Amino acid sequence: MDKVISQEIGAYYRHYPRIAVVVTAQAKGKDNAMAAAWHAPISREPPLYGVCISPKRFTYQLIAESKEFGVNFLPFAEAELVASVGGSGGYEIDKFQRFNIARDKPVKTAVPILKAAYAAYECKLVDDRGYGDHRWLVGEIVAVHRLREVFTPEETLDLDKVSPILYLGHERYVTTSKDIRYLDREVYGKR
Ligand SMILES: Cc1cc2nc3c(=O)[nH]c(=O)nc-3n(C[C@H](O)[C@H](O)[C@H](O)COP(=O)(O)O)c2cc1C
Repeated sequence: MDKVISQEIGAYYRHYPRIAVVVTAQAKGKDNAMAAAWHAPISREPPLYGVCISPKRFTYQLIAESKEFGVNFLPFAEAELVASVGGSGGYEIDKFQRFNIARDKPVKTAVPILKAAYAAYECKLVDDRGYGDHRWLVGEIVAVHRLREVFTPEETLDLDKVSPILYLGHERYVTTSKDIRYLDREVYGKR
């Protein structure tokens, strides 16, 4: 097997699958949703979540204005919805109407929460910084919406009940297998 070492960095962000989410936002009576694959938990206490959004996105304009955003995790059956909101612009259309997106009521913010989400966070913006061609938006999670029956008591996903959406890049979506290995770090760290 040949390993290529190169200073042409290429599409490095496609080297691993990433959970695809729908980031939601609202301002001045306008609601919007976009797909995002670049995002991460940042802190447990306070609970902080980061999303990486290009300033060209309509969603970014809404978040900059309202200082709030939502992060919605959808089951694999909803992958087409991710492609739809990731392939259309809120400057031109009302995506909630066009794609007939059902919502739940937010409790601590005014961001749209997707009814189809098995988990969703309402976030208040605490930082917004530019890195290269994207902005890293950090939000404090102020409310969590969670479909209790798809989680185990340890709050991991029960894969018999729901499959997450993983994005490979280049418009390819995949989900996880149920082949779980339990590798206790306390045991493995001491081998
Ligand atoms: C699977 C997928 C993942 C994406 N991830 C991101 C992302 O992490 N950050 C980003 O700025 N755009 C991302 N996009 C692109 C936006 O979703 C897309 O440009 C969308 O049309 C923006 O909509 P808006 O202008 O209404 O906000 C992704 C698109 C897809 C299909």
